[in-house]
Amino acid sequence: EMDPHERAFQERIDAGQKIEPKEWMSEGYRKTLIRQISQHAHSEIVGQLPEGNWITRAPTLERKAILLAKVQDEAGHGLYLYCAAETLGVSRDEMYEQLHSGKAKYSSIFNYPTLTWADIGAIGWLVDGAAIMNQVPLQRCSYGPYARAMVRICKEESFHQRQGFDILMKMVKGTPAQKAMVQDSLNRWWWPSLMMFGPSDDASVHSAQSMAWKIKQNSNDELRQKFVDQTVPQAEYLGLTVPDPDLKWNEEKGGYDFAEPDWEEFFNVIAGNGPCNAERLDARRKAWDDGAWFRDGLTAHAEKAAGRRAA
Ligand code: 3HC
Repeated sequence: EMDPHERAFQERIDAGQKIEPKEWMSEGYRKTLIRQISQHAHSEIVGQLPEGNWITRAPTLERKAILLAKVQDEAGHGLYLYCAAETLGVSRDEMYEQLHSGKAKYSSIFNYPTLTWADIGAIGWLVDGAAIMNQVPLQRCSYGPYARAMVRICKEESFHQRQGFDILMKMVKGTPAQKAMVQDSLNRWWWPSLMMFGPSDDASVHSAQSMAWKIKQNSNDELRQKFVDQTVPQAEYLGLTVPDPDLKWNEEKGGYDFAEPDWEEFFNVIAGNGPCNAERLDARRKAWDDGAWFRDGLTAHAEKAAGRRAA
């Protein structure tokens, strides 16, 4: 027999009502939202690192300015999401500690290196494309603060995807070496982008419950399929070959058949053993340590100000 609070809560969710911070919510709902929103925020913050690597090496001033704006947007997305998570009773310091200690996850995709300028285009086109696919449904999430943060974030993501595709358009129309650089980038980023949507549905531990609570609107495989169906024609438009020999249009399904991602690689990367996991966490821990003097100054100033008010 379901606890009456739980039943009333589920009825609100089923009726499509938004749950707001001060209202009753089941502990499981609160916990999974803290888990997902904080990890989403970590993804945004860590996601700045692969791109930041190319700000000083962008080929033109215009590309540098665009990349700066995009990386700055990601920082803002992280802050909106940390604020949304704080409404659930977790502190910013706790979330940072979970990231720095390796306890918390962030999107697997950011553990791959950005080796060439074409990677910056591939990240915009594929990574932000996948992020949009996954974030648009989150605008309808049952938890108010998360849904509202997503509305703002999705608006900015479309610029991110567009500028990435534009970089690749220029390069495939350039020299044969530039076109080869784009193909090499697609070869390295295609499969990790498909893995962004999470494990296959039968291996997803949270999906069923997250869908019952209308946190997740679509299953991982559903969004992955949508992403492939939308992206393959774009790759063809660029004159590129998608690195999947099993990729084939399936008429009656009305979508592409494609091979299974390498799930062993995926679980290895999210367990902390990807190509750049150590480098990414070192960078975040260093940023935290380098910023200690500034945090201490703010705290000292706040205490002095409080002391003056109290006197
Ligand atoms: N990277 C890292 N961990 C992942 C993952 C990925 N791509 N996909 C799944 N996982 C983890 C889950 O977090 C969970 O582990 P946990 O219990 O320790 O948290 C485990 O694998 C099982 O996966 P599930 O499918 O059961 O987990 P979820 O129901 O949480 O689904 C998700 C995974 C679809 C990523 C979901 O968490 C989600 O929608 N998160 C919010 C969106 C998000 O984080 N998107 C990343 C986009 S990158 C970005 O935003 C930056 C962009 O702007 C450039």
